Amino acid sequence: MSIAVEARNLFKKYVTKKRLGLIRSVTEYVEALRGVSLNVRHGEVVGLLGPNGAGKTTTIKILSTLLLPDSGEAYVEGFDVVREADKVRERIGIMLTVEKGFYNRLTGRENLEYFGALYGIPPKILKDRIDKLLNLLELDKLGGSDRLFEEFSLGMKARLSLARALLKDPPVVFLDEPTLGLDPPSARKIRLLVKELAREGKAVLYTSHNMFEVEIVCDRIVMINKGRIVAEGSPEELKSRIPKVRALEVHLREAPNHIINTFKEMGLEVSQYSQSSEETYVLKILTKNPEEVVDDVVKVITSAGLDIVKFKLEEPTLEDVFIYFAGDSSG
Ligand SMILES: Nc1ncnc2c1ncn2[C@@H]1O[C@H](COP(=O)(O)OP(=O)(O)OP(=O)(O)O)[C@@H](O)[C@H]1O
Ligand SMILES: [Mg+2]
Repeated sequence: MSIAVEARNLFKKYVTKKRLGLIRSVTEYVEALRGVSLNVRHGEVVGLLGPNGAGKTTTIKILSTLLLPDSGEAYVEGFDVVREADKVRERIGIMLTVEKGFYNRLTGRENLEYFGALYGIPPKILKDRIDKLLNLLELDKLGGSDRLFEEFSLGMKARLSLARALLKDPPVVFLDEPTLGLDPPSARKIRLLVKELAREGKAVLYTSHNMFEVEIVCDRIVMINKGRIVAEGSPEELKSRIPKVRALEVHLREAPNHIINTFKEMGLEVSQYSQSSEETYVLKILTKNPEEVVDDVVKVITSAGLDIVKFKLEEPTLEDVFIYFAGDSSG
């Protein structure tokens, strides 16, 4: 897969004025990006994951030429985002905040026609593309094609924003929290479409602070915290990198007192069993390599004549990964 987006060591400081009273104010600097580097290849969805204020939107704005970096470089389809901004703009689709820039008194279709003309898309191609996008995002089904934008629900607005981002059929798509505030069906529709874009060969950079979402949408995750990249990899890779002790959770019909010592003799750490609400006894065995001990654990239990009701391996979550790499001060 070829590289579509490349950011190298981006720095960005915002200058703000903090009011001290009616007249007095002091100048403050916010270091939004402190050396961000990342790549997005054609055919992959990369999730930029981080808490509020981490620098996600700032990164997206720099890559889409809406904001200049203080230092560092970035390229989209080989073009410099600072010196060749026009060329970059021709090749990207962007969805920032859902509602920005649409005309309340135009219908969904008319809004897309307006932006299509603005982007210089030939009328014949534009009409076909709008039909396709209205259909793909089910805006026609929801009645959004011919209704005024001011009557749209948030979900319809989000769908129209994504349609606008795709009007140019760009090879690179930037989506800044595209499912924020949407109900599950709309969020799901957008997630499915994003995956489809990557299958078509587009490069997608997707920001979110929702761990669950990036895990199902993204091929690769770049974790950002306080303007720095703290970890990067596929969800599985990231989870396997944390040296966390995992737990085998075994639910039993009867109390397992008499086998606990056997586990201890085997060198396994057993957290005391507890009785669960479903009237089963839950035995937790802590281990670094659950895959290696699972057979022995089952053997001990069954040869003691106990029935296993349920067996569960507690997996680390992306949240564990984030806390491990970023520390707990993510707020
Ligand atoms: N125009 C601005 N002026 C001053 N500070 C800003 C400006 N825009 C962003 N910041 C600050 O820069 C930092 C990074 O902001 P950014 O919007 O990139 O974060 P984010 O990861 O997108 O957060 P969120 O999840 O809340 O959208 C924050 O501390 C924010 O307060
Ligand atoms: Mg943001």
